[in-house]
Amino acid sequence: MAPQESDPSPNFLKSSEPTGKLRKEDDIDSSLNAWLEDLEKQNTSQQHPSKLADRSRIGGAIFGTIVIGVFGLKAPFVFTKSRLPYMATPGTKIRKALQHLCKEKKPGLFVDLGSGDGEAIYQAAKLGYNAVGIELNFTMWAMSSIRRRLFWSKEERSRSKLLWSDLFEYDLKDANAVMIFGVTPLMKPLSQKISSQCKSGTDILSYRFALPLAHDKKTQDLMKAAMVYDHEEMRIYRCK
Ligand SMILES: C[S@@+](CC[C@H](N)C(=O)[O-])C[C@H]1O[C@@H](n2cnc3c(N)ncnc32)[C@H](O)[C@@H]1O
Repeated sequence: MAPQESDPSPNFLKSSEPTGKLRKEDDIDSSLNAWLEDLEKQNTSQQHPSKLADRSRIGGAIFGTIVIGVFGLKAPFVFTKSRLPYMATPGTKIRKALQHLCKEKKPGLFVDLGSGDGEAIYQAAKLGYNAVGIELNFTMWAMSSIRRRLFWSKEERSRSKLLWSDLFEYDLKDANAVMIFGVTPLMKPLSQKISSQCKSGTDILSYRFALPLAHDKKTQDLMKAAMVYDHEEMRIYRCK
């Protein structure tokens, strides 16, 4: 015998009571509720187990990606107590500052201390600099490296390098231009690093935060420099 198909319509619509007879609102309400409960039970039992497994796998993957992403962005700050989080300098401001320098000198070695998404390295390589980005945060370094590999021209790639490293370990002795978007507590140690490693004539681009300069005996370990550009929060200091 063929199985009988069940009629999914609510009971009150299948009522055997004569049409036209007015039924109490309560009856309709409770029949409707019972029908909705029935429907919900059917839906739950009809969910194919493999579909449920697929959904939980996708949910797990999304959750995992978020956890790894957040952990990846935070990890260097947790482990190294670096006080310099990722914030981007607009590419147009970097380009304008570098174009200003290119009017005066041929592009040489450009170093971005904390290269983030790699935008400064891209702008510098495009203008003819040999550009090196130093980035401690693995996620930022990986993202900028993928960006470089996929979207930069062969020439821009050949003139650029992105290193996964600590900026305080990179020697600036060969740099002609150094970029930094630091934060207040880091500006003094950065100024000391520049003072002890950079040759005279090196240009230091600093976005937003000013670098402290040497002006007396007490500050003689800081960089000796003159400001040669100050526009839209971008400063360029030339080392003496
Ligand atoms: C404010 S962002 C600047 C990014 C990029 N230079 C720009 O201007 O758009 C600072 C970057 O420095 C990185 N950073 C922080 N401490 C660092 C360290 N000790 N060595 C290398 N990179 C570091 C951060 O992960 C972040 O990507």
